[in-house]
Amino acid sequence: MEIIRVKNAEEGGKKAFEIIKKGMENGAKVLGLATGSTPITLYKEMTSSDLDFSDMTSVNLDEYVGLGGSDDQSYRHFMNSQLFDKKPFKESYVPDGKAADLEAACQEYDEILEQYPIDIQILGIGQNGHIGFNEPGAPFDGTTSVVDLTESTINANKRFFEKAEDVPTKAVSMGIGSILKGKEIVLLAYGENKADAIKGMIQGPMTTDLPASALQEHDNVIVIIDDAAGSKL
Ligand code: GLP
Repeated sequence: MEIIRVKNAEEGGKKAFEIIKKGMENGAKVLGLATGSTPITLYKEMTSSDLDFSDMTSVNLDEYVGLGGSDDQSYRHFMNSQLFDKKPFKESYVPDGKAADLEAACQEYDEILEQYPIDIQILGIGQNGHIGFNEPGAPFDGTTSVVDLTESTINANKRFFEKAEDVPTKAVSMGIGSILKGKEIVLLAYGENKADAIKGMIQGPMTTDLPASALQEHDNVIVIIDDAAGSKL
């Protein structure tokens, strides 16, 4: 893993943007995108740039079960407002958290991933080391599935909801196996509350107890962190 230290999220967003820009110059056509507060500065760089994404495809990592695009807290809504409304892509896939048949929707998502292999995968990381919504215990060869969110994730994400009870307890998430297929992976982390997860991911054993440690077996991973997130390395 290549580790890039940055001063703050603004500088991290700029670095990640440079990687995407260079990737596109070299022919990247499919971006794997993430939600959460971490990639917001990257999306700001993208929306304020003069780069054209109208020939690109994006595939997002995950979505809450039960939330659709018209829900303010859905990841589809987040992506539209942070990025796609301002910079439209040719196609932008986000799992359908309101599908009547979620299992079938997971299979369809895997077919989309087969059709559009990800050139550059952007990732954040959960405090418990999750990537996408692959919580501790998720298999390293997993494909898209419906997952139960852990207490730690529900607690971390309740800040985005009015009441803790409003946080969905399930999500549809790309699996770790699908994430590892990305040709290049860029993981972003800022702040002290990510320090343990970052240490485990880079220096700990490869274990399903810390999902992001699966990235150790990938040969093209760039980790962009600020000093606080890297403070335990
Ligand atoms: C969510 C998302 C992850 C994200 C993580 C960290 O649970 N499913 O993809 O990386 O939270 O979020 P944040 O960037 O807000 O710390």
